[in-house]
Amino acid sequence: MRTVTQQREARPERAPSELAVLTIFVTSVCNARCETCFYWDSLNRPKDEMTLEEWARVAETVPPVRGLQLSGGEPTLDPDLTAKAALFVARPETSIAMPTNGIRTAQVVEQAGRLASRFPGSRVIVGVSIDGPAEMHDRIRGVKNNFARAMETLDALRELQRTHPNLRLSTLTCLMASNIDAMPALLRELAGSGRVDYITIEPLRDQTPVPGLQGPPLDKLRAVQALSIELNTQLLRDRYPREMPSVVSHLVELYRTQQHVRTAGLLDLDCQAGAATGVLEANGTVRLCELLPPVGNVRDFDHDWNAVWHGPAARAQREHILTRACSCTHCVNVGQSIPFDAAAETRRRAAEERLTALLPAPAGV
Ligand SMILES: C[S@@+](CC[C@H](N)C(=O)[O-])C[C@H]1O[C@@H](n2cnc3c(N)ncnc32)[C@H](O)[C@@H]1O
Ligand code: SF4
Repeated sequence: MRTVTQQREARPERAPSELAVLTIFVTSVCNARCETCFYWDSLNRPKDEMTLEEWARVAETVPPVRGLQLSGGEPTLDPDLTAKAALFVARPETSIAMPTNGIRTAQVVEQAGRLASRFPGSRVIVGVSIDGPAEMHDRIRGVKNNFARAMETLDALRELQRTHPNLRLSTLTCLMASNIDAMPALLRELAGSGRVDYITIEPLRDQTPVPGLQGPPLDKLRAVQALSIELNTQLLRDRYPREMPSVVSHLVELYRTQQHVRTAGLLDLDCQAGAATGVLEANGTVRLCELLPPVGNVRDFDHDWNAVWHGPAARAQREHILTRACSCTHCVNVGQSIPFDAAAETRRRAAEERLTALLPAPAGV
């Protein structure tokens, strides 16, 4: 393993002048009670949240972002969702992703429509969380009929997509020991339903409100990841063939890294959390990574992101990240670290070329 000094030389201490992905937790308010929720101890504290004016002050100090994740809480419950997103979208092509529990169909569709209309140059990816077949999903999420409502929401979003072609629709599934056996049939059903452009899966992270929840066993995780590659390749080849090679090659490398972490217990690339990716929560808390302790709060620094991002706590935590001591499978951090790792990016590009070769030649060639 390289020393911290060698790694620091390879990656300057100062964070880059842009962020590949900024995750903003637009609101802490949520209308579900998921047994998995890593954000459970921050939920439903609306009085602690920043006003829109405070968000605007912070946003002025945040570097340009290439990708914006709108998380929460349930982001579609926030009446200022689009206004908050607009504060961070300085470039027309910024990609925007929003997970949702899909419970309030009309509200989800209205918010997705506002985002897609307000940012016509952006790909706006709306992911509806689905953690199991109907009964299992409703139990995991603590909401009666959540599965049925999520399906209605996906149908209504599909309709919206007709007039908003920059929308992309996915499902988001958290994989655990308790739901992994149901996944092959469920994912095939979702992919074959005509409701989504992708399916997205993510192994369970540790910080859950219900103690004792386990991630999926490695052999079953591998099998479901292989199925995800197969299904996403088919889905994208049918509907968005030019997007297929980059999306699928990214998944291949993401899953390889996640499997390595589960086997070896450590990452085998330099995590770019705190360099290329960062997190801002509704109450002003700043994190380098969703899974690590906060490095400060912008409210204590006159709403200056840089004062926290480059402050002593952030510098100390970057040192920790550079030791590769994390055993993290978080798709944003791992995924955004791939382009910065020569070996991983070389493998990804090779896969992208192989996948591109599978596509039919464009008409007229
Ligand atoms: C925190 S939620 C916020 C957005 C929205 N409320 C929802 O549930 O989609 C974002 C995503 O994280 C997933 N998630 C929650 N807890 C998790 C955990 N412990 N491990 C992995 N993913 C988790 C959720 O299933 C959801 O897809
Ligand atoms: S995972 Fe999403 S829907 Fe479930 S409790 Fe957490 S924020 Fe709410």
